[in-house]
Amino acid sequence: MVFPSAMAPFSWQARSREHSLTASPNFRQWFRGFTEGSSSERRVTAMTMGTLGVALGVRLLYDARYVQPYRPGLTRIDLVVPPGHEGLANLTIGFVSDTHVCNAFTPDDVARAAALVIEARPDLVVLGGDYVSGSPRYIDGAAEALGRLAEAAPLGAIAVLGNHDHSVGADSVEEALQAQGITVLRNAATAVDWQGSRLWIAGPEDSLLGRPNLPATFAPIPLGAATLALWHEAQFAERTAACGAFAQLSGHSHGGQIRFPFFGALPVALPPHGRRHVMGLNCAAGMPVYTSRGVGVYQPPLRFLCPPEVVFVTLRAGRP
Ligand SMILES: [Fe+2]
Repeated sequence: MVFPSAMAPFSWQARSREHSLTASPNFRQWFRGFTEGSSSERRVTAMTMGTLGVALGVRLLYDARYVQPYRPGLTRIDLVVPPGHEGLANLTIGFVSDTHVCNAFTPDDVARAAALVIEARPDLVVLGGDYVSGSPRYIDGAAEALGRLAEAAPLGAIAVLGNHDHSVGADSVEEALQAQGITVLRNAATAVDWQGSRLWIAGPEDSLLGRPNLPATFAPIPLGAATLALWHEAQFAERTAACGAFAQLSGHSHGGQIRFPFFGALPVALPPHGRRHVMGLNCAAGMPVYTSRGVGVYQPPLRFLCPPEVVFVTLRAGRP
């Protein structure tokens, strides 16, 4: 059948439909059909596929920049207390880390994540550092958002600092948090009493830009006490295990922020001191260490397959 020249565009459509009706789903057959078509057919098909590829890329990039970083989730985990401290069973702890308030992540974004913790009604809140990034002008806004979170926990809030807090001014961040009633640990430990039992929180200084001193951190803690380590980086968790902690909570790595199926985070996307125990529950010298993916974002402000999280910890008694 001969098409008039005015019908030329339709001839391709007709033949293309014929291909689609007769071709098997097998990719090799489709590819053979594609390569055996005329050059104009191949050009149109390539342009169509290219346009679809660009549209998909733009959609994924938009999602990674404007959607995924702002959809935090609540992760629930259990940690087993050491024998002899079963009285701490059912004590609940909200854990928030790496809020990174900056021009791309506002105190309102932090408040939205904090609301998930407040709704879960923890007894205690612990904060894992990196509250701001880039400039000290974000400190007050971050501290106010975290202060409202601290008010919601009957036992208050305890914090350590991260490397970005040191970058913008560790003393200023510490003062702002303390002004909100938050206890800040810098190579120090503190105890909370709950229903007749005592839990110690040990907070070494940031390992990247601070000067961690574990002997000084653990010095006030009685031998055999139930001690939860709170350290911005999970990299050296074996050291807090050696000091007697039964578990550690950390942040810092953000899970890499951008992760790929079957592969995970690119090693180059992980910060120094953030390449071990990258995210989730891991084991360091027999001690559980949980690394939060964090709440905020660092540059580039993208998240892909690595949603922000806040963590709700329930202490449990071990098997008798
Ligand atoms: Fe961070």
